[in-house]
This record gives sequence, structure tokens and C-alpha cells, in this order.
Amino acid sequence: MTLQAPRVYITRRLPEAGLAPLRAAGLDVVMRPRSSPVPRAELLAAVAGVAAVVSLLSDRIDGELLDAAGPSLEVVANYAVGHDNIDLDQCRRRGVTVTNTPDVLTAATADHAFALLLATARRLREGDELVRSGTWTGWEPLQLLGRQVSGAVLGIVGMGRIGASVAARARGFGMQVLYHNRHRAPEAERATGGRLVSLEELLRSSDFVSLHCPLTKGTRHLIDADRLALMKPTAVLVNTARGAIVDESALVGALSSGALWGAGLDVFEHEPELTPGLRELPNVVLAPHTGSATEVARDGMARLCAEAVVTVLGGRVPPNVVT
Ligand code: GLV
Ligand code: GLV
Repeated sequence: MTLQAPRVYITRRLPEAGLAPLRAAGLDVVMRPRSSPVPRAELLAAVAGVAAVVSLLSDRIDGELLDAAGPSLEVVANYAVGHDNIDLDQCRRRGVTVTNTPDVLTAATADHAFALLLATARRLREGDELVRSGTWTGWEPLQLLGRQVSGAVLGIVGMGRIGASVAARARGFGMQVLYHNRHRAPEAERATGGRLVSLEELLRSSDFVSLHCPLTKGTRHLIDADRLALMKPTAVLVNTARGAIVDESALVGALSSGALWGAGLDVFEHEPELTPGLRELPNVVLAPHTGSATEVARDGMARLCAEAVVTVLGGRVPPNVVT
């Protein structure tokens, strides 16, 4: 009789370097060799009898999937810091540990939020298009005037690791930081000079609003038509968190009517579909959910997932447990 090594199923091709811990532990690693999302039927078939799944934010981990995997499943390592794609209650009920990838992507995501903030404020997308078009006739005093970032008020919604990291960058631009969070964040206040305010005050007072809260039942459409209406008509909204935190139809309305000046978006409510009207707007900068897309961050995420799987299958508790 041969004893089979526990199987780890990885739903898409990930950076190989980070997977070394899985190979070193002698696990039976099955990595789907594609970069496209795994079709649901293929996923349900592939997880049967596995001990671990390394999932992506596009994979729905629910009761149906846990049943398809069966009692052998011990850990779901989500290759993301967010875990709104996972039904945590169902995982808890079955004793399945869920882990995520905090810290390793904080700097990359904060950089990206700031890149979107600057690109939107200074209309880089429109400028790039103009220069490429060959129709640019030279420097003009009133061409592509944007919003001044230096000295402006930045409102951070969700002062976790990423929010605090964006606030720290804002200090270098001489920005005043307001934040809204469930709890006071004294350490972030000391580091960034941020001031805790209500969401309504933050929206009314900020020149830039950047979203860094998780997507939960309580934050779905947190930024809806009424809250968008509180924002200054000169303000910019930046979203690198989750699309559904914003009512995207209401956002398109506010941007088209001039009630809101601009938006820098890395995430979308119905990803990868866009709400009608969004793609035609000149005052938005759109990125394809690339907040953590640096080699350093993605290698770190793969390593954290691999280490979490090895740790849980070894009967220990990894530091990055969500459940
Ligand atoms: C990406 O969106 C993540 O949650 O890591
Ligand atoms: C959330 O986990 C964050 O890092 O802000």
C-alpha cells in the first residue's frame, strides 16, 4: 500500500518561487496551468479529496465547494488580503481554516492607490491620449487643468494597514488626513496626523476620498447616491478595495452630472464587467484590479499561502488565519 501525500489544489498559475514550501513539504501540488479563472464545474471536480485549496478572489468558496471537496479539506489559503469571496461561516462549521495574505501587499496597494489619486487629479490619462493622438499643438495655459494634490484634504475610509500606508504617503504631499474607521487607530494617528471623523464629515470635507475597508454586508454600497451627494463637486474618489463598496451606477451618475470631479478605480462592482457609461467618462482612470501587482507583492502572497498550507497540514496555526 502506498501512502499518498495530501493534495494541494491551486486554482490558477501562481509565481513558482513562492510555492517552494509546498514542494519542500512533499505535498502533491496540483496547479492549474492557466491564468484564466477556473470554470465552476472544473473547480468543483478538481477539489474532490484535496487537503488544501489555494483560491483566488474570483473563486467562490461556499458550502457547495466545501461539500465537493469533502472532509479531507483542512485549509483554504486565499491569494488575497480580502476574503469576501469566502463563506467564512460554512468554513467554520466544517472546521476548515481560512488564511489570507496581509502585509506583503500593503505597500504595493498603497502605492497603487496613490498612483490612481495622482493620475486622476492631474488627468494623466487624458494627457497621454492627447500626446499620442498627434493633435497636441503645444503648451497651453488652460489645458487639462487638474486638482492640486499637495496641501489637500485626504479622507481615508478604513484605517487598516493599507489605509494607514496611504495616509503615510499623503504626509509627504503635505496633505491633511481625515479617517473613518470602526475603531480609533491611535498608532496610525500618531504616524500620519490623521483625525477620526464620521463618514458624513469625511465625505463633506475631503478633496480626495480613498477606500480601504473590506467588503462586508455592512460596507456593500457604503458609498451610495446619498453619500456621493455629500462630496465636494471638486473631489476625487479612489477605490482600490472592492468595487461593490460603491454603488457604481450612482457613481457614473455623479461623475456624468459633474456632482463629482473624478474617480480612480482599480476595482469594479461587477468585475470584469463595467457599469454602462463608466468607460465613456473622460474623468475616470481605470485599472484592471492591479493593486498588488508587483513581483515583490505577488511572490510574497504566494509564499504566505504556501506557508499557511504547510503549517495547517502540520497541525499548527499560521499567523494569517481569518477564521
Ligand atoms: C486584492 O484585491 C486582495 O484582496 O488582495
Ligand atoms: C486590510 O486588511 C488592510 O490591510 O487595510
